[in-house]
Amino acid sequence: MTAEDVGRKQKAIERLHQLTEDALHPAGPAAEERQHERGKKTARERLDLLLDPGSFVELDRFAVHRTAAFEMDQRKYLGDGVVTGYGAVDGRKVFVFSQDFTVLGGSLGEVYAEKIMKVMDLAVKMGAPIIGINDSGGARIQEGVVSLGGYAEIFRRNVWASGVVPQLSVIAGPCAGGAVYSPAITDFIFMVRDISYMFITGPDVVQTVTGEDVSFEQLGGTGTHSSRSGVAHFAAATEEEVFDDVRALFSYIPSNNLDDPPYVESDDDPERVSSALRDIIPESPTRPYDMKDVILEVVDEGEFLEAQPLYAQNIVVGFARLNGYSAGIVANQPAHLAGVLDIDSSDKAARFVRFCDAFNIPLITFVDVPGFLPGTEQEYGGIIRHGAKLLYAFAEATVPKITLITRKAYGGAYDVMSSKHIGADINLAWPTAEIAVMGPEAAARIIHRRAIAEADNPEERLQELVLEYAEQFANPFTAAERGYVDDVIEPEHTRQALIRSLEMARSKRVSLPPKKHGNIPL
Ligand code: HXC
Repeated sequence: MTAEDVGRKQKAIERLHQLTEDALHPAGPAAEERQHERGKKTARERLDLLLDPGSFVELDRFAVHRTAAFEMDQRKYLGDGVVTGYGAVDGRKVFVFSQDFTVLGGSLGEVYAEKIMKVMDLAVKMGAPIIGINDSGGARIQEGVVSLGGYAEIFRRNVWASGVVPQLSVIAGPCAGGAVYSPAITDFIFMVRDISYMFITGPDVVQTVTGEDVSFEQLGGTGTHSSRSGVAHFAAATEEEVFDDVRALFSYIPSNNLDDPPYVESDDDPERVSSALRDIIPESPTRPYDMKDVILEVVDEGEFLEAQPLYAQNIVVGFARLNGYSAGIVANQPAHLAGVLDIDSSDKAARFVRFCDAFNIPLITFVDVPGFLPGTEQEYGGIIRHGAKLLYAFAEATVPKITLITRKAYGGAYDVMSSKHIGADINLAWPTAEIAVMGPEAAARIIHRRAIAEADNPEERLQELVLEYAEQFANPFTAAERGYVDDVIEPEHTRQALIRSLEMARSKRVSLPPKKHGNIPL
């Protein structure tokens, strides 16, 4: 090797070192400072919070855009505004992209989109989850339609990956216009208070078109999407917290649709008796209690990761473990609107059920439901088609399905809430369960209308007939006689009964009739 050769090689290595340094801070320290001043972390700091230390492997760090329009050839940044690659969460492989707001506002152009597509394609090929961190001004205006094409290519990949690998979206800045539809298709959306916004059209356009005066926060902030719209599944106070939430969720879900969820050894005795459950159902059938108390009492170590806790609170959904195995929990919540099913709670639970089914997570359903919410608002809003989604989702799910009726299971809602008839594997009931077409008083008023009207004391007669009806129907034994419930158990033995049922059902093998896909009433 001549001295000249050595020099050339040395120069190439020096160039790599220089470019590597540039790629780490493409917009420079001042832009990163401005990002911090906005109360936000940089794209790379976020990946450090998300991934196991030292596990990140970057791809395409030297990629740059190809646009000359609007003097963009003078404004090239290594990486083109998005950091992509793969790494590990709790030792498990994940593919990631983290949008870099310091570069052209994190706006998405052709090359930027290609980088995201590459990691999405790899994720599907390798059977690993995709986690996207969003912080972007949207379509890169200087790249025009090419940018729109890039978004659509990503949307298509989101759809094709749906149900194949889990897709998680962290919103850590603006996410506006059509750009919202990529996160919207993913399985779970995480937002951070004060820095995350999602909307189709921003406050200025809203003001022009509808005259409404609305702030960023009111229109599309974390509070709005976690309590009103149901767009977000998890809300965190800080970025540190949001990545803890992502990692927590990750512990319950498998890497792809062919894997099982992770098993986490538990010290919690599977036979543990929960005396606290003995008195949880109030004496009066109309008094509420908190179904989350039941869930926390029966699951391993009282750990329950609730999704959408502030949205449609009449139904509770989330993840827990029983004897070390992941389970998806769906539960009516008598402490909120008496646990009634309505449009929002049906949508919320249906999507959750379908996620669990797609990713081999058994479903445990806790039932205390007085029926569907009556009223013009619900009927005009389409409770018929929304309620049908939940029925469809439960009936379609082929994962193990275990149901426990704690108190009311009335009317159509009894059928919908993972009843035996739509395919649950094991249906259990507490002795306090009331499985009937409707509540005792409403039933007595209908079937004994004449007798009540003709009685000397109609109110007294009504109460007698209510009692008579309650004794005959408002119990679990008529259903148990027919095998609609497999057993009536004492509340304190719930944990043991659920674990035994799940263990029995772990080898479940069921498939739906061959079809392209069903036609869920959307
Ligand atoms: C190119 C953009 C950009 C964009 C921001 N920037 N958005 N560059 N295309 N879409 C640049 C700014 O020019 C600025 O560059 C830098 O990013 C930071 O932006 P600021 O405005 O200084 O930041 P901030 O005050 O925090 O405001 C952030 C913002 C605002 C709210 C996102 O930038 C904004 O309103 N941007 C436009 C948003 C938008 O309308 N996007 C198109 C949406 S439609 P310099 O060089 O000054 O630092 C869409 C369709 C998707 O996305 C289609 C999918 C089908």
